[in-house]
Amino acid sequence: MSQRETWATRVGFILAAVGSAVGLGNVWQFPFQTGANGGAAFIVVYLAAVFLIGFPAMLAEFVIGRRAERNPIDAFARLGHRDWRVVGVLGTLSAFWILAFYSVVGGWVIRYIVGSATGAYFSGSEAYFGAIAAGPDAVGLHAVFMALTVGVVALGVTDGIERSTKLMVPSIVLLLGGLAVWAVTLDGGGAGYAYYLSPDIDTLVANIGSILPAAVGQAFFTLSLGMGAMLTYASYLGRDDSLPADGATIVVLNTFVGLLAGLVVFPILFSLGIEPGSGGLGAAFITLAGAFAQLPAGRLLGVVFFVVLLLAALSSAISLLEVVTAYLVDNTDRSRSTLAVALGAAIFALGVPSAFGLPILSWYNAIAYNLLLPLSVLCLLLFVGWVDTDDAVAELRRGTGLGEGGAVAWLWFVRTVVPLGVLVTLLLGLQSLAVRAGLLAEAVV
Ligand code: PHE
Repeated sequence: MSQRETWATRVGFILAAVGSAVGLGNVWQFPFQTGANGGAAFIVVYLAAVFLIGFPAMLAEFVIGRRAERNPIDAFARLGHRDWRVVGVLGTLSAFWILAFYSVVGGWVIRYIVGSATGAYFSGSEAYFGAIAAGPDAVGLHAVFMALTVGVVALGVTDGIERSTKLMVPSIVLLLGGLAVWAVTLDGGGAGYAYYLSPDIDTLVANIGSILPAAVGQAFFTLSLGMGAMLTYASYLGRDDSLPADGATIVVLNTFVGLLAGLVVFPILFSLGIEPGSGGLGAAFITLAGAFAQLPAGRLLGVVFFVVLLLAALSSAISLLEVVTAYLVDNTDRSRSTLAVALGAAIFALGVPSAFGLPILSWYNAIAYNLLLPLSVLCLLLFVGWVDTDDAVAELRRGTGLGEGGAVAWLWFVRTVVPLGVLVTLLLGLQSLAVRAGLLAEAVV
C-alpha cells in the first residue's frame, strides 16, 4: 500500500471540512426549512441542535478518524473493534446513497445558472422547474455534476480537495456576503428580517414535536455528520492541532453561511410579497427563480446566486465521493483516479431513477434524512461514548490545553444527552417514513 496522503496545512483541513459542511443544505434547504417550520422559532431549536448535538458528534467523528488514519470501514478494526466495522459500512453506504441524488440536484443548479443568464425561466418559473427537474436532461446534467466531482477527487487529497476548497469556500462567503449587502437595499425587505430574526415562543412550544426532528436532521445534514465524511477528512490530519478548536471553527463558519443565506433569501421574498412557505424540494428553485425574474438585474443576481449554490454543492459532493474512494484507495492497488471514475459511474447509475421524478428523489432524500443519518450518528456516538471511551478522551485532548474536566464534559454529552436526542429524532423520523409509505400505499390502492 502506498503512503497515505495528509493535508498540507491546518487551514486546508478546516476549509475542506467547511466546504463539506456548507452545501445545498445551507443555501437551499435551510432557509426553506425555516420557512416551513415557523421561521425564527425553528432557528432557535436548530442552533441548539447544532451546538449541543452536532458539535459533540462532529468531535466524535474527528476522534475516530484522526486516531485510526483509515477510511470509515477499516477505522474500527484499526482501533481494535472489528465488530463495529458495520457502522463504517453503514456510513459509507450512506455517502454513496446521498451523493446519488445530491448530484441530481447539483445538475439542476448548473441548469439554473444557464437559465438565469439566458432568462429562460423568466416567463414562468414553476413551469420551468417542472420541465427541467426530471427527464433525460436532468440525467445529462446529473452526469455533468458527477464528472466535476470525480475530477476533483481524482486529483487527490491535497492537489484536488484541499486546493479546490481553498478557492471555493472563500468565494462562497464573498459572493453570498455581497448578495446579503445588496439585499439590504430592497424595499419592503424589512419584514423578511423580522420574520427571520424574531422568534415566536408560542409557535415554538406548539410545534416542538415537528420542529425538533426537522432541526436535528438539518443539523446533521448540514454538518456532514453520519456518513463518514468528517471521519474521513480527519483521517488525513496526521497532525496534532486541537480538534475542539478546529471543530468549533467549522461549526461556526457553517452556521454563519447558513444564516447569511437566510439574510439573502428572506428579504428578497418578502420584498416581493412571497411567503417562504413549504420546504418542498422544488420550492427554493421555483420561488427564488420567480423572484429573480421580477427584480431589476435579475439575470445577473440569478447567475451569482446559483454559482454560489454550485460551489457549495460541489465542495460537499467531493467529500461524499471521498468517503467511498478512500475505502478502495486504502484497500486496493488501483490508482485513485481509476477508482474515482468507477465509483462516480456507479453512483451516477444509482441516482438516475431519482432524475426521473420528484417523488422518487424525495424518497431518496427522506430515507437519508430520517433513517441513515440518525442511525449512523447514533452508532458512532455509542462507540465513542461507551466502547472506545478512554482512548477517545485521550485523543480529544491531544494537541489541546483541554483539561480533564472539559474532556469529561464532552464525554458525558456523548454518552447521554446527545444519543438520547438522536434516538428521539430517529424514532420520529421512522414514524414519518411510515406515514409516507402509508400515503403511498393509499395512493396505489
Ligand atoms: N453538508 C452538506 C450540505 O449541507 C451535505 C453533506 C452531507 C455533505 C453529508 C457531505 C456529507 O449540503
